[in-house]
Amino acid sequence: MKLQRVLNYAQFLMKDFVEAGDVVVDATAGNGYDTALLAELVGESGHVYAFDVQEQAVEATKRRLNELNLAMRCDVILDGHEQVASYVKEPIKAAVFNLGYLPGADHSIVTKPSTTVAAIEAIIKQLVIGGVIILVIYHGHEGGKEERNQVIDYVSSLPQKKINVLRYEFINQKNDPPFIIALEKIKAYPNE
Ligand SMILES: C[S@@+](CC[C@H](N)C(=O)[O-])C[C@H]1O[C@@H](n2cnc3c(N)ncnc32)[C@H](O)[C@@H]1O
Repeated sequence: MKLQRVLNYAQFLMKDFVEAGDVVVDATAGNGYDTALLAELVGESGHVYAFDVQEQAVEATKRRLNELNLAMRCDVILDGHEQVASYVKEPIKAAVFNLGYLPGADHSIVTKPSTTVAAIEAIIKQLVIGGVIILVIYHGHEGGKEERNQVIDYVSSLPQKKINVLRYEFINQKNDPPFIIALEKIKAYPNE
């Protein structure tokens, strides 16, 4: 028995919540690792909507999905996750965000506080009761702490009777290690 590392815990949550037939969102496709895992979990009858603002990330994600024969179950969208409601019309079972920049790419293209919060807010509205939003928060880069703080302020304000908000973090590690925030919708929210 050992404590799960942060990225393992994010994958554990995806595997725990996502079932065949679900509609899910990868809000930050990057190189497509999470998109591919989600595509496996939703099966042939489910669907993944993956977003990224970088052409390079969209291409890398499509390539990975093609190699794994998973492309049919995914839409990889070159647009910001804050536009999620324009593309996803179905109820959402799970969404995953990896905040920060894409390793190996332009480090100045990072997720931003206002669009990240707008996307979380939009996804909560479409999230099924029993659904989850998983945020892996990297905050070591420039602007990372501001984004972390704004996300924490927002999720801390959500009503506890409607959304469970979890923080999973190793608190004695140096160099700003990533941590997880997970939101579980337990009752209709906002008023539906
Ligand atoms: C940490 S990386 C994601 C890593 C990815 N999960 C993977 O498995 O490789 C963050 C990504 O978010 C993207 N991004 C930045 N702003 C965005 C936005 N508004 N909407 C969608 N993606 C965005 C970046 O282009 C970058 O590829």
